[in-house]
Amino acid sequence: MSEKTKDVVETSEAEIAVHWQEEAYFHASPGFIGQANLTDESIFERFALKNFPDYYTEFAELLTWYKYWDEVLDSSDAPCFKWFKGGLINASYNCIDRHLKANKNKTAIHFVSELEDEAIQHITYQELYVRVNEFAALLRDTAKLKRGDRVTIHMPMSAELPITMLACSRLGVIHSVVFGGFSASACADRIVDSQSRVLITMDAYYRGGKLLNHKAVDEEACQIAAEGGQVVDTLLVWQRYPGKNSSDTPAVEGRDIIVNDELKKYYGVRVEPEKMLSEDPLFLMYTSGTTGKPKGCQHGTGGYLAYVTAMSKYIQDIHPEDVYWCMADIGWITGHSFIVYGPLALCASTVIYEGVPTYPDAGRCWRIAQALDVNIFHTAPTAIRALRKVGPDEPAKYTYNFKHMTTVGEPIEPEVWKWYQKEVGKEKAVIVDTWWQTETGGFLCSTVPGLQPMKPGSAGPGVPGIHPVIFDEDGNELPAGSGKAGNICIQNPWPGMFQTIWGDRPRFVKNYFERYCKNLDSKDWRDWPYLTGDAAVQAPDGYFRILGRIDDVINVSGHRLGTKEIESAALTVNEVAEAAVVPVAHEVKGKEPDLYVALKPGFKASDEIVKKIDEAITYQIGKIAKCRKIWIVPDMPKTRSGKIMRRVLGAISNHGDVGNVMTLANPEVVEEIKKMVG
Ligand code: WTA
Repeated sequence: MSEKTKDVVETSEAEIAVHWQEEAYFHASPGFIGQANLTDESIFERFALKNFPDYYTEFAELLTWYKYWDEVLDSSDAPCFKWFKGGLINASYNCIDRHLKANKNKTAIHFVSELEDEAIQHITYQELYVRVNEFAALLRDTAKLKRGDRVTIHMPMSAELPITMLACSRLGVIHSVVFGGFSASACADRIVDSQSRVLITMDAYYRGGKLLNHKAVDEEACQIAAEGGQVVDTLLVWQRYPGKNSSDTPAVEGRDIIVNDELKKYYGVRVEPEKMLSEDPLFLMYTSGTTGKPKGCQHGTGGYLAYVTAMSKYIQDIHPEDVYWCMADIGWITGHSFIVYGPLALCASTVIYEGVPTYPDAGRCWRIAQALDVNIFHTAPTAIRALRKVGPDEPAKYTYNFKHMTTVGEPIEPEVWKWYQKEVGKEKAVIVDTWWQTETGGFLCSTVPGLQPMKPGSAGPGVPGIHPVIFDEDGNELPAGSGKAGNICIQNPWPGMFQTIWGDRPRFVKNYFERYCKNLDSKDWRDWPYLTGDAAVQAPDGYFRILGRIDDVINVSGHRLGTKEIESAALTVNEVAEAAVVPVAHEVKGKEPDLYVALKPGFKASDEIVKKIDEAITYQIGKIAKCRKIWIVPDMPKTRSGKIMRRVLGAISNHGDVGNVMTLANPEVVEEIKKMVG
């Protein structure tokens, strides 16, 4: 067992002793249950482990296939599992074409600009079909993209972003969407890793009332990528405000193509969807892990789409007549699965909001909900905490009716859950607390809203088909009610699970499976429990409470950041010798990073160095990784073997107990740092 993991699990147990308090159940109203998509209890029996993997055909049958699969699960290359092997399918067809016959005039996407006086765009399924086809023709004929190529998309929240994704999937081009707030350097890393010769961007977008020049960021990303060995030969630029804004950066001859102009060549053109193998990759989504280098999670086509469609239907309870708003960013997995692919596969109307939830004031979200008659609302605890802080009484001022609400991305405090339920949900909406990850494609734990009661602060049991287990350090199972925290794993593979890390199968096996796999040559799925990297505890009723990461990942405002990524950025500053990032509790953001650095000999701490480090982090990653504080310390607290004791630094930043530090190589430095931090 590694020293690090042991530390963390022990801390978690202590945490539970302090914070663990069993919450009372909340029940869905008969009105909700009466209309819910899933109220048949036999699902749990059908989806019992003994029926694995065949039960997942129920999910696959929600989709339209050109050809059914030959095999539900192929484990011959475990743990790179292939779902619905041999089946032929297209994601764009399933999200658009198949709805046209009955619903072409229905709104597919409502796009809400941050500018409140700009008209909301209502894009019908027919219009989505036309625009996706035309853009697919442009990708094929102008950008010369074909099946299997990768393309990086660095775009803000806009209707054009899902249009771009769906045009890629129509052609079988693998998209890699990079969150719009990431810096040029972070975008370039992803261009290089995915070997994208085409980058798709947008000129500008609004954020907090300001029009930001986004094209300029990608201008720089192209330069950095070229230095890293990947030339972007085509930069496609969507124009949000053609000719009207100050953000037009000069076009590079031969490389830049203004999409709005180029599209005129393709008006009326239709592109036949590619018949993809179910196991062909649909997209890459880069996420943070334990090293400085983000990993490209590769998601497949048939399995992923079947899984997110089923989750949207049974857990999100989306019906075609619903107006569904997931207030996440499409640049993260939540947006891929639950703004774009899941809801559109179900023919729902999905809302895309460009901007900041509290801009220009605390009532903005509820005005949008009222205007569009939203009835399903999905967001993260960080947004809920922010909305509660700035406008606890705002929801009551607006007339909207949520039947269902979701929380995702971080643990939600019972107090915050209760405000969400009472004030936002007006005591009528059910809440699902969905626990999952970029890697998992869709939900792992949640309650089924029409069947299982909710418990504030607990995600719930595994969703139908997912069989979680908590292991201690030695691989022993910690049963429900043990009161002990451990590493939560999933016993079985599932269709939404990522297929591998792009170009790095050894890392895929090592990070997610090696820990509890008994036989690395095994072709039997039973031998490959999936390590989620979260610590959890299971209550006697089987509900899981997620305690947080056991590795070097922190969730800041629901954004997943690798501490190593921030440390690596700090280490690019010449004066910095060592860097360590620790999470600090924050009332709205959940966690914030605190950065400790020690300088190389001969350098003295100064505001100038702090500023340099701060700028390096913004440059390498983006403003989302900004640290709460950068502490320049005389030395890092270290073990005798020279390991930086992040646990001690974490305790200091959080004003907690540093424990016994006498065994450290330099215990005196702990006192010095404590005085500094206060
Ligand atoms: C955390 C976001 C508690 C968890 C979908 C996980 C949660 C990481 C929850 C994945 C939840 C996500 N309760 N913690 N409901 N949902 N997490 O990849 O630590 O951005 O491992 O995916 O967020 O973050 P990611």
